[in-house]
Amino acid sequence: MSEFLPEKDGYVVAVVGATGAVGQTMLEILAERNFPISKLIPVASSRSAGSTIEFKDKDYVVQDLDTFDPAGVDIALFSAGGSTSKEFAPRFAAAGCYVIDNSSAWRMDDNVALVVPEVNPHALAMARDNKIIANPNCSTIQMVVALKPLHDAVPIKRVVVSTYQAVSGAGSKAIHELADQTRNLLSGEDAETDVFPARIAFNVIPQIDTFLEGGYTKEERKMIDETRKIMEADIAVTATAVRVPVFYAHSEAVNLTFSGAMDADRARNILADAEGICVLDDPKGEEYPMPSDAAGSDFVWVGRIRNDDSCPNSLHLWVVADNVRKGAALNAVQIAEILITDS
Ligand code: A2P
Repeated sequence: MSEFLPEKDGYVVAVVGATGAVGQTMLEILAERNFPISKLIPVASSRSAGSTIEFKDKDYVVQDLDTFDPAGVDIALFSAGGSTSKEFAPRFAAAGCYVIDNSSAWRMDDNVALVVPEVNPHALAMARDNKIIANPNCSTIQMVVALKPLHDAVPIKRVVVSTYQAVSGAGSKAIHELADQTRNLLSGEDAETDVFPARIAFNVIPQIDTFLEGGYTKEERKMIDETRKIMEADIAVTATAVRVPVFYAHSEAVNLTFSGAMDADRARNILADAEGICVLDDPKGEEYPMPSDAAGSDFVWVGRIRNDDSCPNSLHLWVVADNVRKGAALNAVQIAEILITDS
């Protein structure tokens, strides 16, 4: 029997934010992985309540979160923004439901588990009491999947990461903004900017989320704090998060310094055997992972694995993953699978 939920043929599952970019992918992944569902409830704001969404060839009416009663729901997958989660996740938890929350609202709460199943599934034990589980930031998830097996072999002392993040991380409006700006500029028309702080088409923006005291952005601070919480280690982490005009899949240039001997060949072997990772690293064949490989895939792809010649026991990695799948929806569904799996 699972230590979280009683064994059943199917569970009552609510997807909060079901009309959004991540919510839609959560539904797709629940269907693909045949998650045992006795009743599916799509939930969103009053804007889309009453509309229908399709799941496994059947139509479901979207419920309004403001008036929805969570009694009887076993698992709720939330991806409807931080303020929505702050207000509604405790109400769902109080009704006895496990909430897996994709926003940043609960991630750094000491009483909330922040979980990547390949890295720290044991942290879920905490959720037996408070019922809220946080899904980490998309950039953090793909990085820690690559760091963990290396850290287990030789502890990592320092991580320096620069990200190249796809627009889908900012939701469905952002996906449309890149498409519209690109189309307009190619037609000689003006490009309107709404979601991003600057034009994203044919551009690169070194700002994701707002700036904090000291000059880091919130996105960069999330990568630093969340990595340390998930890895349960006092690793020095510094990050520069950059938005690029790519629709799906984040890329990361990661530089690692280890506390003992580590080299590229050993790292390549360790990563090739690790769960959830696909190594694509053949400089002679000019093979390395790109968003075009990772989009739609469930793997974290790693390539360009090489020794950093400027510093002993240091490596460069290039890490790419679908930010909406492994970086959000898939990770949440994997957590839900642990909740219903025999321990
Ligand atoms: P809606 O479609 O009704 O606006 P994305 O990240 O792609 O923009 O999607 C955000 C998701 O979160 C959508 O499903 C959106 O629903 C939902 N959402 C946003 N704000 C709220 C809210 N206050 N209450 C419920 N759902 C919300």
